[in-house]
Amino acid sequence: MINFEFPEDFIWGCATASNQIEGAVDADGKSPSIWDANMRDQPEKFWNGHHYNTTIADFYYHYKEDIENMRELGLKSFRFSLSWTRILPDGRGAVNPKGIDFYDRVIDCLLENGIAPFADLYHWDLPESLGKAGSFLNPQVIDDFHDYAEVCFKHFGDRVRYWSTINEPSAMRCFTANDPRFDFQDPACYLTYVRNVLKMHNAAVKSFRENVAPGIAEIGAVSAFVPIYARTSDPKDIEAAKIQEDYVCNVWFSGILKGKYPERLLTHAGLKCDFRDELQAELTACHQPVDFIGANYYYPNTIGYKEGNFLNTELAQVYYAQSDYGFRIYPQGLYDTLMYFKREYGNPKIFLTENGFATDREKHGADLEDDERIAYLKEHFRELNRVLDAGANVQGYFLWSIVDTFECFNGLRYQFGLNHIDLETKKRTKRKSWYYYQDCIKKHRTV
Ligand code: NOJ
Repeated sequence: MINFEFPEDFIWGCATASNQIEGAVDADGKSPSIWDANMRDQPEKFWNGHHYNTTIADFYYHYKEDIENMRELGLKSFRFSLSWTRILPDGRGAVNPKGIDFYDRVIDCLLENGIAPFADLYHWDLPESLGKAGSFLNPQVIDDFHDYAEVCFKHFGDRVRYWSTINEPSAMRCFTANDPRFDFQDPACYLTYVRNVLKMHNAAVKSFRENVAPGIAEIGAVSAFVPIYARTSDPKDIEAAKIQEDYVCNVWFSGILKGKYPERLLTHAGLKCDFRDELQAELTACHQPVDFIGANYYYPNTIGYKEGNFLNTELAQVYYAQSDYGFRIYPQGLYDTLMYFKREYGNPKIFLTENGFATDREKHGADLEDDERIAYLKEHFRELNRVLDAGANVQGYFLWSIVDTFECFNGLRYQFGLNHIDLETKKRTKRKSWYYYQDCIKKHRTV
């Protein structure tokens, strides 16, 4: 029998990111991030050619209403990200008091409503100036990130409950905003990126320990976990699936949790570059333990062996039901993901920091009667019940998202929100799934 109950202190949350909900891209001293710059310069690349300042939920102006909505929903924690260029418009140097003031107000409002703030330092919106200066390929970004993190800890460290350094570095196209300097099929480029991002993470954790009083908060990092299944039981397919899982997932999770590059990946014949032998010693020297890990689970992949790319892998054509967004729907992947941490990483404290379902605005309009999302959530919650029963140390679930979010080049076409956003008026309307989630939270069980 599956036990459908959740522990009373289970943390039910919602997750967002600054560049996906805030809007106000040039208000009160904010300067452009790499995403803002993309939208400013190439609006034709985005859904409906929308201009960057007009197509978003405008949380910057609606945060009180949204936090009131979260309180009514019963949320225990709200995961949001801080916008680097709202706080440090030049990417480094002078602090923008109005940027600090905005996050002060958001954090205080959350606390007044009994919701624990969960702040991500970085969710894909690198300052445009740092993008121009070499982005993640220039090691200077490590010191810049450290200094930015320090500003955040000093200003908000007395009130934020959970911190995360980086979000989903594996979503490399988004992390680098499709910058043509990044070629992730080139081992030297891939490893430079990984090396610098892991150093950024560790530099921020070190600063956290130095600047935030013990006991006030915890720090971790968030990445996507994509469980990778082998196409067949042929040993070559099994090996291909494992190396792909290392390339996409374990390079981050092992790097962060153990301070170790996955051996299989680091010694892979296809991953040669002239600094490969230095990487492990560097990581050992800067590694900082974290208090928890965040895993985002949306879909699995199935991989087979094929000579061609540098890892000799290919995506297998396997049938899965899909959401409008093209994400494969496989609830058991959530179980496999969370059990992976129990098995391979010694059962660390873990939050499922993202999971959610999108429908197409063009096909379904506002989709207020979103029964498909409810069915999706129900199945994923059942897997969460199973994982808890199996003893995995999962302490919270964050649904993506509280409102419709801006999804990279797809803009607001695909709707992930418990609240629909009207593009013209920005009016919020609760979807049926909002009530479903409220009921689960209230009853502490999958309903
Ligand atoms: C994961 C990312 O962290 C988030 O930014 C994105 O919106 C969701 N995936 C859904 O695509």
